[in-house]
Amino acid sequence: MSVIGCGYLGAVHAAAMASIGHDVVGIDVDERKVAALADGVAPFFEPQLGELLQEGLASGRLRFSTDMSDAAGSDIHFLAVGTPQIVGGHAADLRFVDAAMSALLAHLRPGDVVAGKSTVPVGTAERLASQMAGSGATLVWNPEFLREGWAVHDTLTPDRLVVGVPSGPDGERAADLLREAYRPALEAGTPFLITDLATAELVKGAANAFLATKISFINAMAEIAEAAGADVTLLADAIGHDGRIGRRYLGSGIGFGGGCLPKDIRAFAARAEELGRGEAVGFLREVDSINLRRRDRAVRLVVDALGGLVFGRRIAVLGAAFKPFSDDIRDSPALDVAVRLRGLGADVVVTDPAALANAEAAHPQLGYAAERDDALRDADAVVIVTEWDLYRRDLTPEHAGSLVAGRIVIDGRNCLDAAAWRAAGWKYHGMGRR
Ligand code: UDX
Repeated sequence: MSVIGCGYLGAVHAAAMASIGHDVVGIDVDERKVAALADGVAPFFEPQLGELLQEGLASGRLRFSTDMSDAAGSDIHFLAVGTPQIVGGHAADLRFVDAAMSALLAHLRPGDVVAGKSTVPVGTAERLASQMAGSGATLVWNPEFLREGWAVHDTLTPDRLVVGVPSGPDGERAADLLREAYRPALEAGTPFLITDLATAELVKGAANAFLATKISFINAMAEIAEAAGADVTLLADAIGHDGRIGRRYLGSGIGFGGGCLPKDIRAFAARAEELGRGEAVGFLREVDSINLRRRDRAVRLVVDALGGLVFGRRIAVLGAAFKPFSDDIRDSPALDVAVRLRGLGADVVVTDPAALANAEAAHPQLGYAAERDDALRDADAVVIVTEWDLYRRDLTPEHAGSLVAGRIVIDGRNCLDAAAWRAAGWKYHGMGRR
């Protein structure tokens, strides 16, 4: 099989497929990425990926190439290229999908299956299928739900597999081929859902819209809790015990970021507008603005905690990645907060165990420290914006207190034990916590 596009999605998919016994070629136009992958080096931080790559390469079942003609002869071609937000708008930019498809067309044989994995606006699969007409190959849509930081786990043991197929015998045959490709997961009991093409595309958009809504819901409750003198984390625990609601994705704080949720909800709403149903997902605009308001709120908390002026004050910013177990800084709320504090004249020192190099390259105006304790040293305030264990679990208020100049902590992820920090003499400020 071939996997076209070797970013977060494709590189993990290629390595995972090789690990369950398939012969896989991963193809990408980025020569540096392909060279790293071919050396068994993950081009980004992702737990377990390095080992999986090395095993696959050593077994001879996994290789990487920049040449699309290496896809020829594969029975399944997974399309895993990126679909970023277009510049100057909210819709998805499909140029990489279109380029991959036009390069692949010449290499398709009758009976081949092209399985789209990228997150695309509904209707894209039908359009690609019509471009393939005459090739004898079948297009199916097989959305991917992996989370960064858990990508290998999520790919090998997904919650469910969804495959959208065209109606008729070609679709049935393609579904069988995908069933065979994912056999170990199916044998382990993973639900395998066959749908039409449009539904499979929508499942991905709907799942991300729901998750984003859940996070913004609890952050909206944080705004109310703050005004009412209540504690949103206790509220989340209490409503989360209701099995219909569930505690997961009720983590309040500075909100969601990353390469998926923010752009995917915008693209979903943009596509709904095109379909004449914009009002059906009008709430997603609210979800987006509640989310962005969290960053303003975090900055305001820091400013207020420092007496109204941050100019010249030293602020330790713990975290740069959009979430722990990732070096990804795309639309990172953590860095957004750091950049805004710097914009107000603060002497910001950012630290992160994985994302520092990416952050430095993108925001050279910020101060950086490779070690957590160097960031904390002489700080007037500490802001936790990515809940790495190194900050959430391993940093005691006593140790932090021995390094800083001022015992003020702003917990942008509501991840600290407020009582313990207060008991150690800190002024603790959570987001939506008393
Ligand atoms: C997400 C979806 O989870 C995944 O299914 C989809 O395929 C891609 O988008 P990912 O972006 O890797 O995955 O990260 P995720 O763990 O979902 O977190 C997204 C953002 O939400 C992060 O910034 C995280 O900090 C934030 N978040 C998550 C919260 O603020 N609160 C929560 O309770 C959970």
